[in-house]
This record gives sequence, C-alpha cells and structure tokens, in this order.
Amino acid sequence: MSSQTQSSPAHDAKPALPKRAQIVLSGTKPTGENLHLGNYFGALRQFVDLQDQHDTALYFIADYHSMTSLRNGAERRRNTLNVALDYLAAGLDPERAILFRQSDLPEVTELTWILTSVTPMGMLERAHAYKAAQDKGEDVDHGLFTYPVLMAADILLYGSHLVPVGRDQKQHIEMARDMAHRFNRLYECEALTLPEPYILEETATVPGTDGRKMSKSYGNTIAMFAAKNAVKKAVMGIVTDSTPVEAPKDVQQAVFEIWSLFATPEEREAMFARARAGGLGYGDVKKDLLARLMDYFEPMRARRAALEARPQEIEAVLRAGVVRARQLAMPVLEACREAAGLGPVRG
Ligand code: TYM
Repeated sequence: MSSQTQSSPAHDAKPALPKRAQIVLSGTKPTGENLHLGNYFGALRQFVDLQDQHDTALYFIADYHSMTSLRNGAERRRNTLNVALDYLAAGLDPERAILFRQSDLPEVTELTWILTSVTPMGMLERAHAYKAAQDKGEDVDHGLFTYPVLMAADILLYGSHLVPVGRDQKQHIEMARDMAHRFNRLYECEALTLPEPYILEETATVPGTDGRKMSKSYGNTIAMFAAKNAVKKAVMGIVTDSTPVEAPKDVQQAVFEIWSLFATPEEREAMFARARAGGLGYGDVKKDLLARLMDYFEPMRARRAALEARPQEIEAVLRAGVVRARQLAMPVLEACREAAGLGPVRG
C-alpha cells in the first residue's frame, strides 16, 4: 500500500498548498493528564497543518478506546477535557476542524459490530498491542483484542482518506483498509473508503527519556504542558551514554533526537558537528533543550491557561463538533446497513 510517509517540511515553514477535497481524521486516547512530545510531534502538529490543507478535518478524543486501560470514570472525564484543551491550545480551530468526543456518536459501535463480522481472528491475533500483552502474560480482555476493529470503525465511519498518526498506529490503519476491502467485496458495494496513513518520517517515532519510544506506559514521557519543574526533571533525566565531555559523541541518542525537534536543519547540523568533534557536555545540551522546549510551548501554554478557566466553552465546542461529525457518519452507516440488508426496507 502506498503509505504517505513524507519527510518533514522545514521547521515551521508551512507550504501554502491548495486545499484538497479529502477527509482527514485522527484521534487521541485520553489516558493521561497531558499529551507528551511524542503525541505532539508524531501527530498533533500534523493535525494542525492538515486542517488548513484539506476541506474536512475531524479530530476526536478516543474515550471508548481508553476503556481498555483506564477504569476510572472521573479520571476519564478529566483526561477527556485535558485532551480537548491540548488540541485547542496546540492550534486546532473549531472553525476549521471538527472536534468531537468519540462516545458522543455511539453509532461507531454499530459499525464496529458490522466490521467484526468480516474480520478474521488471525488478523487481530497479529495486532502488535495484543501480541505484546500476550507476551507479557497479561490477562487480555476482549476490548483490547477488538481495539483495532473499533479504530477501523472510527476511520471508516466518516469516509476518511488520510489519517495522520505516529508509526505505532500504522498497522491499525492497514487493518482498517483490509476490513473496508473485505466488507465492500463480501457485500458487493463501495460503502467504505480505503484510508491512507499520513506519517512524517522524521517524527514517526519520538524517543522517550530512556531511548525507547516515548509512551505513557513506559513512564519515559516529557509532557507538553507540565509544570516547569516536572519538565526540567524529565529533560535532565534523559539517559545518555557515559562518554566524557572531551570525547566525540554518538549523535544517535535520545538527547540529540529530542533536541532536534526544536532546531532548524542548520542548527542541527552545527550541533551534530560539535558533538562529533568532542568537548560538548550532555548537561549543556539538556539545558539548551529545556530552554527551547519552554519557549516553543509558551504561547500554547498561555492559550491553554486561558481556556482552562472556561470548561463550558470546551464542552460547547465538542457538542457542536459531533453534530457535524454525525452528518458525515450517517450516510456511510446507512450505506453499510443497506448493503448488509439491515434495518427496515426502504422506499
Ligand atoms: P495515542 O493516544 O496513543 O496517541 C495519539 C497519537 O500520538 C502518536 N504517538 C507518537 N508518535 C510518535 N512518537 C511517539 N513516541 C508517539 N506516541 C504517540 C500516535 O501514533 C497517535 O497518532 N489508537 C490511537 C487513538 C485512535 C485513533 C483512532 C487514531 C483511536 N481511533 C482513529 C487515529 C484514527 C492511540 O491510542 O493513539
């Protein structure tokens, strides 16, 4: 499949592309208090860019998905509001993108069932998250096993063409394509559109403070909007090798990769040259990273603080969003029902 893997545009240079009549869609799970650098550079920054380049962009908060790992209702509500705040603070604009909460359109669970009936067990058994849980000997519940089907329903329900995500979600989009293809073939229809992933090569997998993929479940994250002390602690805790200051450095380390997220290509070249020459201390790189990070997110932090005081407005944005999302969803769901012979006879 022709995945739209692209190299990142020059830092902050936003090419003025003509708008495309495509539907862009993506979502984020409300499993933590705050989104992290992996969420932002791997996905959210692209959400913001794509809302201007396409006619229709839908971004939702995947509260149903969070149920496989979070079993506290009050926390889910808090986290859901926090993701909405992070979306808006990062520059998503309800005038240009449809922002909504997944569970406000429960019809997605009907499409999940419809897709479940055309999804081979073997496909779900090969899913990375399920396999990882099995390997760790965890008690896997059915929700985790079916997770990719709900995600496919999210994507297919709105006729999405393009799905901006980090690399860890690529397999899920491939599965969504397979399910759409199988449904269309089995019911001899074209009810479902086959989506493409949109993954920027340079930020496809943002490393965490321990060098593994940045992820809440590894406890190696740097949150976008945490208190400065917490951000400082995380940055200073980035694991490095034990090369002495004067020795040449290996630039293939998390500290340089994370630093590079906040630098232009020219700055990165210069930094890497200094690192390879020797004489550069990791402490200095971390201090510079912290300063750049705080600067970068400062305007968003301010916007977030202002919005935080007005939770009713956030709720209104989500409620208005789901009305527009439903307008896109219902014809697709109706086409699936019609093809599958469900519901009352028409006409
Ligand atoms: P979630 O909530 O784990 O992550 C949200 C987005 O952040 C990206 N991401 C990363 N990208 C690069 N490097 C990292 N270290 C990193 N960590 C996270 C993820 O790839 C994702 O794009 N299943 C999805 C939520 C979802 C969804 C959907 C996404 C539900 N339905 C439909 C797209 C379309 C998830 O758990 O993402």
